[in-house]
Amino acid sequence: MNTPSLDVLIIGGGAAGLRAAIAAVEADPDIHVGLVSKVYPMRSHTVSAEGGSAAVVRDEDSLDSHAFDTIKGSDFLADQDVVEAFVNEAPGELIQLEHWGCPWSRDPDGRVSVRAFGGMSTKRTLYAADKTGFHMLHALFQTSLKHSRIHRYDEWYVTSLLVDEGRVCGVAALNLHQGGLHALPARAVILCTGGGGRVFPFTTNAAIKTGDGMSMAYRAGCPLKDMEFVQYHPTGLPVTGILMTEASRGEGGYLVNSEGDRYLSEYVPGKMELGPRDILSRAFVHEMRAGRVFEGEHGQYVHLDLRHLGEKAIDEKLPFVRELTRNYVGIDPVHEPIPVRPVVHYMMGGVHTDIDGATPVAGLYAAGETACVSLNGANRLGSNSLTECLVFGARAGRAAGRSASERDSPRSGVLEALVRDEEERIRSTLLGEDEGRTERVSQIRTDLQGAMESGAGIYRTAEELTIACEQIRALKERYQRVGIDDHSLVFNTQLTTALELGCMLDVAESLAHSALLREESRGSHARSDHEARDDGRFLSHSLAIRDPDGEDPRIEYLPATITRWQPEERKY
Ligand code: FUM
Repeated sequence: MNTPSLDVLIIGGGAAGLRAAIAAVEADPDIHVGLVSKVYPMRSHTVSAEGGSAAVVRDEDSLDSHAFDTIKGSDFLADQDVVEAFVNEAPGELIQLEHWGCPWSRDPDGRVSVRAFGGMSTKRTLYAADKTGFHMLHALFQTSLKHSRIHRYDEWYVTSLLVDEGRVCGVAALNLHQGGLHALPARAVILCTGGGGRVFPFTTNAAIKTGDGMSMAYRAGCPLKDMEFVQYHPTGLPVTGILMTEASRGEGGYLVNSEGDRYLSEYVPGKMELGPRDILSRAFVHEMRAGRVFEGEHGQYVHLDLRHLGEKAIDEKLPFVRELTRNYVGIDPVHEPIPVRPVVHYMMGGVHTDIDGATPVAGLYAAGETACVSLNGANRLGSNSLTECLVFGARAGRAAGRSASERDSPRSGVLEALVRDEEERIRSTLLGEDEGRTERVSQIRTDLQGAMESGAGIYRTAEELTIACEQIRALKERYQRVGIDDHSLVFNTQLTTALELGCMLDVAESLAHSALLREESRGSHARSDHEARDDGRFLSHSLAIRDPDGEDPRIEYLPATITRWQPEERKY
Protein backbone atom coordinates (compact mmCIF):
# COMPACT_ATOMS: atom_id res chain seq x y z
CA MET A 1 0.00 0.00 0.00
CA ASN A 2 1.29 3.49 -0.86
CA THR A 3 1.02 5.97 1.95
CA PRO A 4 2.01 9.62 1.49
CA SER A 5 5.14 10.56 3.34
CA LEU A 6 3.89 11.97 6.61
CA ASP A 7 5.61 14.50 8.79
CA VAL A 8 3.30 14.15 11.77
CA LEU A 9 1.03 11.22 12.45
CA ILE A 10 -1.76 11.71 14.98
CA ILE A 11 -3.51 8.77 16.57
CA GLY A 12 -7.04 9.66 17.63
CA GLY A 13 -9.69 11.79 15.93
CA GLY A 14 -11.29 13.48 18.95
CA ALA A 15 -10.87 17.07 20.09
CA ALA A 16 -7.17 16.81 20.93
CA GLY A 17 -6.28 14.94 17.73
CA LEU A 18 -8.19 17.25 15.41
CA ARG A 19 -6.87 20.36 17.16
CA ALA A 20 -3.31 19.03 16.90
CA ALA A 21 -3.76 18.29 13.19
CA ILE A 22 -5.10 21.77 12.41
CA ALA A 23 -2.35 23.44 14.46
CA ALA A 24 0.38 21.46 12.73
CA VAL A 25 -0.73 22.31 9.19
CA GLU A 26 -1.49 25.94 10.06
CA ALA A 27 1.97 26.40 11.57
CA ASP A 28 3.89 25.10 8.57
CA PRO A 29 2.71 25.31 4.94
CA ASP A 30 4.78 22.27 3.94
CA ILE A 31 3.68 19.82 6.56
CA HIS A 32 1.61 16.70 5.81
CA VAL A 33 -0.31 15.21 8.71
CA GLY A 34 -1.87 11.77 9.02
CA LEU A 35 -4.87 11.35 11.33
CA VAL A 36 -5.56 7.73 12.25
CA SER A 37 -8.68 6.83 14.18
CA LYS A 38 -10.16 3.48 15.13
CA VAL A 39 -13.61 5.04 14.68
CA TYR A 40 -14.87 7.70 12.32
CA PRO A 41 -13.71 10.96 13.98
CA MET A 42 -17.23 12.20 14.71
CA ARG A 43 -17.72 9.05 16.80
CA SER A 44 -14.78 9.85 19.07
CA HIS A 45 -15.63 10.08 22.75
CA THR A 46 -15.45 13.90 22.66
CA VAL A 47 -18.85 13.75 21.02
CA SER A 48 -20.44 12.69 24.29
CA ALA A 49 -19.09 15.57 26.38
CA GLU A 50 -22.00 17.51 27.73
CA GLY A 51 -21.60 20.36 30.19
CA GLY A 52 -19.03 22.75 28.76
CA SER A 53 -15.52 24.07 28.37
CA ALA A 54 -13.87 26.52 30.77
CA ALA A 55 -12.08 29.79 30.03
CA VAL A 56 -12.02 33.31 31.37
CA VAL A 57 -14.20 35.40 29.06
CA ARG A 58 -15.83 37.88 31.43
CA ASP A 59 -14.39 41.10 32.87
CA GLU A 60 -15.41 40.16 36.41
CA ASP A 61 -13.36 36.93 36.15
CA SER A 62 -9.56 36.64 36.13
CA LEU A 63 -6.86 34.31 34.86
CA ASP A 64 -5.43 34.04 38.36
CA SER A 65 -8.79 32.92 39.69
CA HIS A 66 -9.09 30.20 37.04
CA ALA A 67 -5.51 29.15 37.77
CA PHE A 68 -6.02 28.98 41.53
CA ASP A 69 -9.32 27.06 41.23
CA THR A 70 -7.58 24.52 38.99
CA ILE A 71 -4.61 24.18 41.35
CA LYS A 72 -6.77 23.88 44.46
CA GLY A 73 -9.02 21.40 42.63
CA SER A 74 -5.91 19.35 41.80
CA ASP A 75 -5.07 19.20 45.52
CA PHE A 76 -1.91 21.16 44.67
CA LEU A 77 -0.43 18.46 42.44
CA ALA A 78 -0.94 20.34 39.16
CA ASP A 79 2.23 21.80 37.65
CA GLN A 80 1.64 25.51 38.06
CA ASP A 81 3.55 26.58 34.95
CA VAL A 82 1.26 24.29 32.95
CA VAL A 83 -1.83 25.75 34.63
CA GLU A 84 -0.70 29.29 33.87
CA ALA A 85 -0.14 28.48 30.19
CA PHE A 86 -3.54 26.78 30.12
CA VAL A 87 -5.57 29.65 31.55
CA ASN A 88 -3.75 32.17 29.35
CA GLU A 89 -4.40 30.28 26.12
CA ALA A 90 -7.91 29.00 26.94
CA PRO A 91 -9.92 32.12 26.00
CA GLY A 92 -8.26 32.41 22.58
CA GLU A 93 -8.96 28.75 21.84
CA LEU A 94 -12.66 29.03 22.69
CA ILE A 95 -13.13 32.25 20.72
CA GLN A 96 -11.38 30.67 17.77
CA LEU A 97 -13.66 27.67 18.02
CA GLU A 98 -16.64 29.96 17.69
CA HIS A 99 -15.08 31.40 14.54
CA TRP A 100 -14.79 27.84 13.28
CA GLY A 101 -18.53 27.37 13.79
CA CYS A 102 -19.11 26.21 17.35
CA PRO A 103 -22.54 27.55 18.36
CA TRP A 104 -21.93 28.60 21.97
CA SER A 105 -25.16 29.28 23.86
CA ARG A 106 -25.70 33.01 24.32
CA ASP A 107 -27.28 35.36 26.83
CA PRO A 108 -30.17 37.65 25.79
CA ASP A 109 -27.67 40.53 25.49
CA GLY A 110 -25.79 38.56 22.84
CA ARG A 111 -22.75 37.65 24.93
CA VAL A 112 -21.55 34.06 25.06
CA SER A 113 -23.19 32.45 28.10
CA VAL A 114 -21.17 31.05 30.97
CA ARG A 115 -22.42 28.60 33.57
CA ALA A 116 -21.29 27.47 37.01
CA PHE A 117 -19.26 24.26 37.35
CA GLY A 118 -17.89 22.30 40.29
CA GLY A 119 -14.89 23.79 42.08
CA MET A 120 -14.90 26.96 39.97
CA SER A 121 -15.31 30.12 42.03
CA THR A 122 -17.30 31.92 39.34
CA LYS A 123 -19.27 31.15 36.19
CA ARG A 124 -16.71 30.51 33.45
CA THR A 125 -17.88 27.43 31.58
CA LEU A 126 -18.92 28.07 27.98
CA TYR A 127 -21.46 25.63 26.61
CA ALA A 128 -23.69 24.66 23.73
CA ALA A 129 -26.79 23.61 25.70
CA ASP A 130 -25.70 20.25 27.12
CA LYS A 131 -24.29 18.90 23.86
CA THR A 132 -21.04 20.83 24.03
CA GLY A 133 -18.78 17.96 22.95
CA PHE A 134 -20.86 17.28 19.86
CA HIS A 135 -20.71 20.90 18.73
CA MET A 136 -17.03 21.34 19.52
CA LEU A 137 -16.11 18.15 17.70
CA HIS A 138 -18.22 19.14 14.73
CA ALA A 139 -16.54 22.56 14.51
CA LEU A 140 -13.10 20.96 14.70
CA PHE A 141 -13.93 18.22 12.22
CA GLN A 142 -15.36 20.56 9.60
CA THR A 143 -12.34 22.85 10.01
CA SER A 144 -10.00 19.90 9.49
CA LEU A 145 -11.80 19.17 6.21
CA LYS A 146 -10.58 22.48 4.80
CA HIS A 147 -7.00 21.26 4.96
CA SER A 148 -5.93 19.00 2.12
CA ARG A 149 -2.68 18.29 3.97
CA ILE A 150 -4.56 16.39 6.68
CA HIS A 151 -4.80 12.80 5.43
CA ARG A 152 -7.32 10.68 7.30
CA TYR A 153 -7.16 6.98 8.08
CA ASP A 154 -10.64 6.39 9.46
CA GLU A 155 -11.30 3.00 11.00
CA TRP A 156 -7.67 2.02 11.20
CA TYR A 157 -6.45 0.51 14.44
CA VAL A 158 -2.90 1.25 15.53
CA THR A 159 -1.38 -1.82 17.18
CA SER A 160 2.03 -0.39 18.10
CA LEU A 161 4.54 2.39 17.74
CA LEU A 162 7.48 1.61 15.49
CA VAL A 163 10.74 2.58 17.15
CA ASP A 164 14.08 2.73 15.32
CA GLU A 165 17.15 3.24 17.50
CA GLY A 166 15.15 4.89 20.26
CA ARG A 167 13.19 7.19 17.95
CA VAL A 168 9.52 6.76 17.04
CA CYS A 169 9.36 6.57 13.26
CA GLY A 170 5.74 5.61 12.64
CA VAL A 171 3.12 3.09 13.64
CA ALA A 172 1.85 -0.34 12.67
CA ALA A 173 -1.85 -0.10 11.91
CA LEU A 174 -4.61 -2.48 10.86
CA ASN A 175 -6.81 -1.26 8.06
CA LEU A 176 -10.05 -2.47 9.63
CA HIS A 177 -12.20 -2.33 6.52
CA GLN A 178 -9.78 -3.78 4.00
CA GLY A 179 -7.63 -5.95 6.23
CA GLY A 180 -3.87 -6.00 6.48
CA LEU A 181 -1.31 -4.55 8.82
CA HIS A 182 0.60 -1.58 7.40
CA ALA A 183 3.47 0.64 8.42
CA LEU A 184 2.50 4.30 8.51
CA PRO A 185 5.83 6.11 8.58
CA ALA A 186 6.14 9.54 10.19
CA ARG A 187 8.81 11.80 11.58
CA ALA A 188 6.75 12.49 14.72
CA VAL A 189 3.73 10.78 16.29
CA ILE A 190 1.14 12.36 18.61
CA LEU A 191 -1.02 10.13 20.80
CA CYS A 192 -4.53 11.56 21.27
CA THR A 193 -6.39 8.36 22.03
CA GLY A 194 -8.33 9.41 25.15
CA GLY A 195 -8.40 7.71 28.52
CA GLY A 196 -8.88 4.16 29.69
CA GLY A 197 -11.97 4.30 31.88
CA ARG A 198 -13.09 0.97 30.45
CA VAL A 199 -10.76 -0.81 32.87
CA PHE A 200 -13.56 -0.21 35.37
CA PRO A 201 -16.96 -1.88 35.02
CA PHE A 202 -19.10 1.21 35.61
CA THR A 203 -18.05 4.21 33.57
CA THR A 204 -19.29 7.11 31.46
CA ASN A 205 -16.59 6.19 28.95
CA ALA A 206 -17.41 4.88 25.50
CA ALA A 207 -16.41 1.28 24.70
CA ILE A 208 -13.52 2.64 22.63
CA LYS A 209 -11.75 4.12 25.69
CA THR A 210 -9.40 1.27 26.37
CA GLY A 211 -6.18 3.16 27.05
CA ASP A 212 -4.55 2.24 23.72
CA GLY A 213 -2.25 5.27 23.53
CA MET A 214 -1.19 4.93 27.16
CA SER A 215 -0.30 1.32 26.59
CA MET A 216 1.61 1.98 23.36
CA ALA A 217 3.70 4.66 25.03
CA TYR A 218 4.30 2.45 28.09
CA ARG A 219 5.49 -0.40 25.87
CA ALA A 220 7.80 1.99 24.03
CA GLY A 221 9.50 2.88 27.33
CA CYS A 222 7.63 6.08 28.15
CA PRO A 223 6.55 6.49 31.79
CA LEU A 224 2.86 6.77 32.65
CA LYS A 225 2.40 9.63 35.09
CA ASP A 226 -0.04 9.96 38.02
CA MET A 227 -2.02 6.90 36.98
CA GLU A 228 -3.44 6.40 40.47
CA PHE A 229 -5.74 9.40 40.07
CA VAL A 230 -9.08 8.25 38.66
CA GLN A 231 -12.02 10.60 38.67
CA TYR A 232 -15.47 9.42 39.69
CA HIS A 233 -18.17 11.76 38.43
CA PRO A 234 -20.83 12.03 41.13
CA THR A 235 -23.83 11.77 38.83
CA GLY A 236 -24.12 8.81 36.48
CA LEU A 237 -27.26 6.85 35.72
CA PRO A 238 -27.31 3.47 37.47
CA VAL A 239 -26.58 0.44 35.20
CA THR A 240 -25.63 2.29 32.03
CA GLY A 241 -23.27 4.83 33.64
CA ILE A 242 -24.60 7.49 31.28
CA LEU A 243 -23.46 10.93 32.39
CA MET A 244 -25.94 13.32 33.97
CA THR A 245 -23.94 16.43 33.34
CA GLU A 246 -22.58 18.58 36.13
CA ALA A 247 -24.33 21.40 34.25
CA SER A 248 -27.53 20.04 35.87
CA ARG A 249 -26.10 21.19 39.18
CA GLY A 250 -24.51 24.27 37.61
CA GLU A 251 -28.00 25.31 36.54
CA GLY A 252 -29.27 24.79 40.09
CA GLY A 253 -30.09 21.07 40.49
CA TYR A 254 -30.01 19.49 43.97
CA LEU A 255 -28.57 16.22 45.22
CA VAL A 256 -30.93 14.69 47.77
CA ASN A 257 -30.60 11.55 49.91
CA SER A 258 -33.28 9.05 50.89
CA GLU A 259 -34.22 11.22 53.88
CA GLY A 260 -35.00 14.14 51.61
CA ASP A 261 -31.89 16.09 52.70
CA ARG A 262 -29.48 18.05 50.52
CA TYR A 263 -26.79 16.04 52.25
CA LEU A 264 -23.83 17.96 50.83
CA SER A 265 -24.32 20.57 53.55
CA GLU A 266 -22.43 18.10 55.76
CA TYR A 267 -19.48 17.70 53.40
CA VAL A 268 -19.01 20.88 51.31
CA PRO A 269 -21.21 23.51 52.92
CA GLY A 270 -19.53 26.35 51.05
CA LYS A 271 -20.17 24.83 47.64
CA MET A 272 -22.94 22.27 48.06
CA GLU A 273 -23.71 20.67 44.67
CA LEU A 274 -20.89 22.66 43.09
CA GLY A 275 -18.17 21.07 45.17
CA PRO A 276 -15.39 19.23 43.31
CA ARG A 277 -16.07 15.73 42.04
CA ASP A 278 -13.74 13.82 44.35
CA ILE A 279 -15.41 15.23 47.47
CA LEU A 280 -18.94 14.73 46.12
CA SER A 281 -18.22 11.13 45.17
CA ARG A 282 -16.84 10.36 48.62
CA ALA A 283 -19.90 12.03 50.17
CA PHE A 284 -22.07 9.48 48.36
CA VAL A 285 -20.06 6.63 49.88
CA HIS A 286 -20.56 8.11 53.37
CA GLU A 287 -24.30 8.46 52.78
CA MET A 288 -24.37 4.87 51.56
CA ARG A 289 -22.55 3.63 54.65
CA ALA A 290 -24.97 5.62 56.83
CA GLY A 291 -27.93 3.99 55.08
CA ARG A 292 -29.27 7.27 53.66
CA VAL A 293 -29.45 6.25 49.99
CA PHE A 294 -32.17 4.65 47.90
CA GLU A 295 -32.04 0.92 47.19
CA GLY A 296 -32.92 0.08 43.61
CA GLU A 297 -33.03 -2.89 41.32
CA HIS A 298 -29.64 -1.78 39.99
CA GLY A 299 -27.95 -0.79 43.23
CA GLN A 300 -27.90 2.23 45.47
CA TYR A 301 -28.44 5.81 44.39
CA VAL A 302 -29.39 9.32 45.43
CA HIS A 303 -31.62 11.79 43.65
CA LEU A 304 -30.62 14.56 41.30
CA ASP A 305 -33.62 16.85 41.52
CA LEU A 306 -34.20 19.36 38.71
CA ARG A 307 -37.93 19.83 39.13
CA HIS A 308 -37.66 23.30 40.63
CA LEU A 309 -35.80 24.53 37.52
CA GLY A 310 -38.97 24.21 35.46
CA GLU A 311 -39.64 22.79 32.01
CA LYS A 312 -38.56 25.88 30.06
CA ALA A 313 -35.09 26.04 31.65
CA ILE A 314 -34.61 22.28 31.37
CA ASP A 315 -35.51 22.32 27.69
CA GLU A 316 -33.32 25.29 26.96
CA LYS A 317 -30.22 24.42 29.03
CA LEU A 318 -30.44 20.67 29.62
CA PRO A 319 -32.35 19.12 26.71
CA PHE A 320 -30.00 16.14 26.49
CA VAL A 321 -30.51 15.31 30.17
CA ARG A 322 -34.25 15.19 29.51
CA GLU A 323 -33.78 13.06 26.40
CA LEU A 324 -31.40 10.62 28.12
CA THR A 325 -33.51 10.17 31.25
CA ARG A 326 -36.65 9.64 29.21
CA ASN A 327 -34.95 7.08 26.97
CA TYR A 328 -32.80 5.24 29.50
CA VAL A 329 -34.70 5.50 32.80
CA GLY A 330 -38.22 6.12 31.59
CA ILE A 331 -38.70 9.24 33.70
CA ASP A 332 -39.14 12.92 32.89
CA PRO A 333 -36.88 15.14 35.04
CA VAL A 334 -39.42 17.93 34.74
CA HIS A 335 -41.68 15.86 36.99
CA GLU A 336 -39.44 13.30 38.74
CA PRO A 337 -35.97 13.26 40.35
CA ILE A 338 -33.23 11.37 38.52
CA PRO A 339 -31.50 8.38 40.18
CA VAL A 340 -27.72 8.91 40.15
CA ARG A 341 -24.55 7.48 41.65
CA PRO A 342 -20.77 8.05 41.21
CA VAL A 343 -19.29 6.62 38.03
CA VAL A 344 -15.73 6.41 36.67
CA HIS A 345 -15.37 9.33 34.29
CA TYR A 346 -11.81 10.48 33.68
CA MET A 347 -8.16 9.64 34.22
CA MET A 348 -6.00 12.46 35.47
CA GLY A 349 -2.92 10.34 34.72
CA GLY A 350 -1.50 9.35 31.38
CA VAL A 351 1.50 9.56 29.10
CA HIS A 352 4.20 11.71 30.73
CA THR A 353 4.68 14.87 28.67
CA ASP A 354 6.19 18.30 29.00
CA ILE A 355 4.24 21.51 28.48
CA ASP A 356 4.40 21.04 24.68
CA GLY A 357 3.25 17.45 24.68
CA ALA A 358 6.74 15.99 24.18
CA THR A 359 7.41 12.69 25.91
CA PRO A 360 10.84 11.39 26.94
CA VAL A 361 10.77 9.08 23.88
CA ALA A 362 12.20 10.88 20.86
CA GLY A 363 9.57 11.68 18.23
CA LEU A 364 6.64 10.86 20.52
CA TYR A 365 4.07 13.41 21.73
CA ALA A 366 0.72 13.14 23.49
CA ALA A 367 -2.23 15.41 24.26
CA GLY A 368 -5.73 15.25 25.73
CA GLU A 369 -6.86 12.66 28.24
CA THR A 370 -4.30 10.12 27.09
CA ALA A 371 -1.55 12.52 28.16
CA CYS A 372 -0.58 13.75 31.57
CA VAL A 373 0.78 17.24 31.02
CA SER A 374 0.07 17.75 34.75
CA LEU A 375 -2.76 20.24 34.41
CA ASN A 376 -5.16 18.26 36.57
CA GLY A 377 -3.00 16.87 39.35
CA ALA A 378 -4.97 14.67 41.70
CA ASN A 379 -8.43 15.85 40.65
CA ARG A 380 -9.62 17.63 37.50
CA LEU A 381 -12.23 20.36 37.64
CA GLY A 382 -15.21 19.73 35.39
CA SER A 383 -15.09 21.62 32.07
CA ASN A 384 -11.29 21.98 32.08
CA SER A 385 -10.76 18.90 29.94
CA LEU A 386 -12.36 20.02 26.68
CA THR A 387 -10.30 23.20 26.89
CA GLU A 388 -7.23 21.10 27.74
CA CYS A 389 -7.72 19.16 24.49
CA LEU A 390 -7.65 22.44 22.56
CA VAL A 391 -4.79 24.19 24.34
CA PHE A 392 -2.47 21.21 24.60
CA GLY A 393 -3.61 19.59 21.35
CA ALA A 394 -2.55 22.79 19.57
CA ARG A 395 0.74 22.95 21.48
CA ALA A 396 1.54 19.33 20.67
CA GLY A 397 0.62 19.80 17.00
CA ARG A 398 2.94 22.78 16.64
CA ALA A 399 5.80 21.21 18.61
CA ALA A 400 5.60 17.90 16.72
CA GLY A 401 5.52 19.80 13.43
CA ARG A 402 8.64 21.74 14.39
CA SER A 403 10.52 18.64 15.43
CA ALA A 404 9.41 16.72 12.31
CA SER A 405 10.88 19.37 10.05
CA GLU A 406 14.26 18.86 11.72
CA ARG A 407 14.30 15.08 11.28
CA ASP A 408 15.19 12.68 8.49
CA SER A 409 12.53 10.45 7.00
CA PRO A 410 12.14 7.04 8.62
CA ARG A 411 14.38 4.36 7.12
CA SER A 412 12.10 2.32 4.89
CA GLY A 413 13.83 -1.05 5.17
CA VAL A 414 13.79 -0.75 8.92
CA LEU A 415 10.09 0.12 8.98
CA GLU A 416 9.19 -2.88 6.88
CA ALA A 417 11.13 -5.16 9.21
CA LEU A 418 9.46 -3.61 12.25
CA VAL A 419 5.98 -4.05 10.83
CA ARG A 420 6.74 -7.66 9.85
CA ASP A 421 7.77 -8.31 13.46
CA GLU A 422 4.52 -6.77 14.68
CA GLU A 423 2.51 -8.87 12.26
CA GLU A 424 4.30 -11.98 13.49
CA ARG A 425 3.56 -11.02 17.09
CA ILE A 426 -0.16 -10.81 16.37
CA ARG A 427 -0.26 -13.93 14.19
CA SER A 428 1.60 -16.05 16.69
CA THR A 429 -0.43 -14.88 19.69
CA LEU A 430 -4.00 -13.71 19.23
CA LEU A 431 -4.41 -15.27 15.79
CA GLY A 432 -2.52 -18.41 16.82
CA GLU A 433 -4.20 -21.75 16.19
CA ASP A 434 -2.77 -23.80 19.07
CA GLU A 435 -5.20 -25.63 21.30
CA GLY A 436 -3.95 -24.07 24.50
CA ARG A 437 -5.64 -20.78 23.59
CA THR A 438 -8.67 -21.36 25.77
CA GLU A 439 -9.02 -18.03 27.54
CA ARG A 440 -11.76 -15.66 26.36
CA VAL A 441 -11.45 -11.90 26.02
CA SER A 442 -14.79 -11.18 27.68
CA GLN A 443 -14.01 -13.25 30.77
CA ILE A 444 -10.59 -11.69 31.35
CA ARG A 445 -12.07 -8.23 30.80
CA THR A 446 -14.87 -8.86 33.30
CA ASP A 447 -12.40 -10.19 35.85
CA LEU A 448 -10.13 -7.20 35.28
CA GLN A 449 -12.96 -4.73 35.78
CA GLY A 450 -14.00 -6.53 38.96
CA ALA A 451 -10.44 -6.39 40.30
CA MET A 452 -10.20 -2.68 39.59
CA GLU A 453 -13.52 -1.85 41.16
CA SER A 454 -12.85 -3.75 44.36
CA GLY A 455 -9.18 -2.78 44.63
CA ALA A 456 -8.88 0.73 43.20
CA GLY A 457 -12.28 2.35 43.64
CA ILE A 458 -13.27 5.57 45.42
CA TYR A 459 -11.58 4.39 48.64
CA ARG A 460 -8.49 2.20 48.61
CA THR A 461 -6.22 0.43 51.10
CA ALA A 462 -2.83 -1.25 50.77
CA GLU A 463 -4.45 -4.63 51.30
CA GLU A 464 -7.04 -4.11 48.55
CA LEU A 465 -4.49 -2.66 46.15
CA THR A 466 -2.06 -5.51 46.76
CA ILE A 467 -4.79 -7.98 45.88
CA ALA A 468 -5.62 -5.96 42.75
CA CYS A 469 -1.94 -6.00 41.69
CA GLU A 470 -1.82 -9.79 42.14
CA GLN A 471 -5.04 -10.24 40.21
CA ILE A 472 -3.78 -8.10 37.34
CA ARG A 473 -0.57 -10.13 37.20
CA ALA A 474 -2.61 -13.35 37.00
CA LEU A 475 -4.84 -11.84 34.32
CA LYS A 476 -1.79 -10.87 32.27
CA GLU A 477 -0.68 -14.47 32.39
CA ARG A 478 -4.12 -15.66 31.33
CA TYR A 479 -4.03 -13.12 28.50
CA GLN A 480 -1.08 -15.01 27.03
CA ARG A 481 -3.51 -17.87 26.40
CA VAL A 482 -6.35 -15.85 24.92
CA GLY A 483 -7.88 -17.28 21.78
CA ILE A 484 -10.29 -15.87 19.22
CA ASP A 485 -12.45 -17.65 16.65
CA ASP A 486 -12.35 -15.15 13.81
CA HIS A 487 -8.96 -15.24 12.10
CA SER A 488 -9.77 -12.88 9.26
CA LEU A 489 -8.37 -9.36 9.14
CA VAL A 490 -11.45 -7.48 7.85
CA PHE A 491 -13.58 -5.81 10.53
CA ASN A 492 -12.45 -8.44 12.97
CA THR A 493 -13.91 -6.99 16.14
CA GLN A 494 -12.78 -10.03 18.11
CA LEU A 495 -9.21 -9.20 17.20
CA THR A 496 -9.49 -5.51 18.04
CA THR A 497 -11.17 -6.19 21.38
CA ALA A 498 -8.41 -8.69 22.18
CA LEU A 499 -5.75 -6.10 21.30
CA GLU A 500 -7.61 -3.50 23.37
CA LEU A 501 -7.69 -5.87 26.32
CA GLY A 502 -3.88 -6.04 26.21
CA CYS A 503 -3.84 -2.24 26.49
CA MET A 504 -6.32 -2.28 29.37
CA LEU A 505 -4.09 -4.66 31.29
CA ASP A 506 -1.17 -2.23 30.93
CA VAL A 507 -3.30 0.67 32.13
CA ALA A 508 -4.59 -1.34 35.09
CA GLU A 509 -1.10 -2.50 36.07
CA SER A 510 0.38 1.00 36.09
CA LEU A 511 -2.66 2.37 37.94
CA ALA A 512 -2.78 -0.20 40.72
CA HIS A 513 0.97 -0.15 41.39
CA SER A 514 1.10 3.66 41.45
CA ALA A 515 -1.87 3.71 43.83
CA LEU A 516 -0.32 1.13 46.13
CA LEU A 517 2.87 3.15 46.60
CA ARG A 518 1.15 6.51 47.17
CA GLU A 519 0.67 6.26 50.91
CA GLU A 520 -1.40 9.39 51.36
CA SER A 521 -4.82 10.74 50.39
CA ARG A 522 -4.82 13.47 47.77
CA GLY A 523 -7.67 14.50 45.48
CA SER A 524 -9.30 11.47 43.93
CA HIS A 525 -6.82 9.06 45.55
CA ALA A 526 -8.42 8.36 48.94
CA ARG A 527 -6.51 5.84 51.04
CA SER A 528 -8.52 4.70 54.07
CA ASP A 529 -5.23 3.56 55.59
CA HIS A 530 -3.43 6.89 54.95
CA GLU A 531 -6.09 9.55 55.35
CA ALA A 532 -3.90 12.66 55.39
CA ARG A 533 -2.22 14.38 52.48
CA ASP A 534 1.55 14.08 52.87
CA ASP A 535 3.30 16.92 51.06
CA GLY A 536 6.61 15.94 52.65
CA ARG A 537 6.68 12.64 50.77
CA PHE A 538 4.20 13.01 47.94
CA LEU A 539 4.01 16.50 46.49
CA SER A 540 5.28 14.64 43.45
CA HIS A 541 4.06 12.95 40.32
CA SER A 542 4.35 9.19 40.14
CA LEU A 543 6.00 7.74 37.04
CA ALA A 544 5.19 4.10 36.27
CA ILE A 545 7.89 2.52 34.13
CA ARG A 546 7.16 -0.79 32.47
CA ASP A 547 9.45 -3.72 33.12
CA PRO A 548 10.46 -5.13 29.71
CA ASP A 549 10.66 -8.65 31.19
CA GLY A 550 7.10 -8.59 32.45
CA GLU A 551 7.86 -7.96 36.12
CA ASP A 552 6.01 -5.30 38.11
CA PRO A 553 6.50 -1.70 36.94
CA ARG A 554 9.03 0.50 38.66
CA ILE A 555 7.54 3.64 40.25
CA GLU A 556 9.61 6.81 40.39
CA TYR A 557 8.65 10.33 41.49
CA LEU A 558 9.02 13.77 39.97
CA PRO A 559 8.39 16.90 42.11
CA ALA A 560 5.35 18.98 41.16
CA THR A 561 6.16 22.46 39.83
CA ILE A 562 5.09 25.25 42.19
CA THR A 563 5.26 28.81 40.85
CA ARG A 564 3.02 31.22 42.80
CA TRP A 565 0.62 29.20 44.91
CA GLN A 566 1.96 27.39 47.98
CA PRO A 567 0.06 24.23 48.98
CA GLU A 568 -2.52 24.78 51.70
CA GLU A 569 -5.30 22.76 53.25
CA ARG A 570 -8.01 22.18 50.65
CA LYS A 571 -11.29 23.32 52.14
CA TYR A 572 -14.52 24.34 50.39
O1 FUM B 1 -20.62 16.75 33.72
C1 FUM B 1 -20.09 17.07 32.68
O2 FUM B 1 -20.68 17.67 31.80
C2 FUM B 1 -18.68 16.70 32.49
C3 FUM B 1 -17.78 17.60 32.15
C4 FUM B 1 -16.35 17.31 32.23
O3 FUM B 1 -15.98 16.19 32.60
O4 FUM B 1 -15.54 18.20 31.99
